Amino acid sequence: MERRECKVVSQEEMARQAGFMHLIKEKNAGALMKYNISTFGCQMNENDSERLAGMLTEMGYTHTDKLEESDLIIYNTCCVRENAELKVYGHLGSLKGLKREKPELVIAVCGCMMQQPEVVEEIRNKYKHVDLVFGTHNLYKFPELLYSVLDTRSNVIDVWDCDGVIAEDIPTRRENDIKAWVTIMYGCNNFCSYCIVPYVRGRERSRRPEVILNEIKQLGEQGFKEITLLGQNVNSYGKDLGEEFSFAKLLREVNEIEGIERIRFMTSHPKDLSDELITAMRDCDKVCEHLHLPIQAGSTEVLKKMNRKYTKDQYLELVEKIRKEIPEISITTDIIVGFPGETDEDFDETIDVVKKVRYDMAYTFLYSKRTGTPAAKSGNQVPEEVKKQRFDRLLEVQNKISREINDKLLGQVVEVLVEGPSKTNEKMYTGRTRTNKIVNFQGNEEMVGKLVRIKIDKVQTWSLEGSPVQ
Ligand code: 5AD
Ligand code: SF4
Repeated sequence: MERRECKVVSQEEMARQAGFMHLIKEKNAGALMKYNISTFGCQMNENDSERLAGMLTEMGYTHTDKLEESDLIIYNTCCVRENAELKVYGHLGSLKGLKREKPELVIAVCGCMMQQPEVVEEIRNKYKHVDLVFGTHNLYKFPELLYSVLDTRSNVIDVWDCDGVIAEDIPTRRENDIKAWVTIMYGCNNFCSYCIVPYVRGRERSRRPEVILNEIKQLGEQGFKEITLLGQNVNSYGKDLGEEFSFAKLLREVNEIEGIERIRFMTSHPKDLSDELITAMRDCDKVCEHLHLPIQAGSTEVLKKMNRKYTKDQYLELVEKIRKEIPEISITTDIIVGFPGETDEDFDETIDVVKKVRYDMAYTFLYSKRTGTPAAKSGNQVPEEVKKQRFDRLLEVQNKISREINDKLLGQVVEVLVEGPSKTNEKMYTGRTRTNKIVNFQGNEEMVGKLVRIKIDKVQTWSLEGSPVQ
């Protein structure tokens, strides 16, 4: 892997990439070229895929859902847990036949998995039908890399080892025209002992506030109603900018932007959630009453080994403080089950936190050993059956709580931002409450993109049903 210095990509370089987009468009000479992108992992990856799609649109490509009719297939990968990686290998393996039938098909893989040298080796040796491999830091260079594949018809592998770059002005083709993701910072400095993200996404680096605000202003003008500010740890936004510009200040400024009606953000590290931010959340009318606050584990002992830098009590105090300021807030979390050395008593602490906090929802994960992280070297790994048993117990406790919280909404009127027809039920429309709960209801096309009032008349663990009221 080539070692690079961290830098903001120059306008000249971005113009050079635009030149390659133009060249590819000319090379395809009006042929109807189609692409398909599969995205694994978090919203940051989804946002990166929107950039790939944006660049491809500039190059004259159109999107297709069908792999068989694609001229370019991209897998944007995740390596946070092993099962995400296995899925990608499975998909790549199953493309061998298609590539044999259609040799001009270009297969590309990018994203977090590619930042691991052993993965690139595996692809180089066992998946020779893959044409293009690139990483998280050189996504902006995709036009040049694709041009090289199309021009030389030979494989291109380009992955950088660096602290990270910031590239602005990459064209973006957004998945949704009501809600938009805006990445405000890249990378992570926390090095939680189980997590691979800091190794594959580089160090924390914040985008300039004026660039972010300008992007959101444009989104407001284009008719977007909701934006989600993204970062591995948004609470440390601005710390690297060398000037006073905190995340709380950014929220306040975003709150002033016309057209935008709802603001969300994720993810917040509990150790960095400041009083200033809680006050900003309380004061800003557009900031939704929802906070994703990963606890990861309930035992202070385990939290220490995880390098999370807070104790169980500090976390509980933080939740109390937030609820005091914003009583109606919904809180969601991430929990890892079976971290190395986790005892039954440690796990009981996790259950205890879940019962005390009463999360609206929890994303629960079985601990997955990630090569290169400190926790992977630990000798006392928890047996799979024990992890599974704990996981099921946790799920049972959390599901009951989620259902009880939802039950309280029965008969209440909530504000829903309507996203469109429901994907699971043709007759229904769907949207979310400010607290991020899914609501399905009998609606119509005119409601899409609007805030409507819905009376809840049916409750489930994961979603609500209701009918519009005046
Ligand atoms: N095993 C299981 N879950 C993990 N996460 C991160 N690393 C691992 C791992 N090695 C979870 C954390 C994080 C979420 C995005 O993924 O809970 O918050
Ligand atoms: Fe991973 Fe911890 Fe950084 Fe989140 S804060 S990305 S869990 S290292």
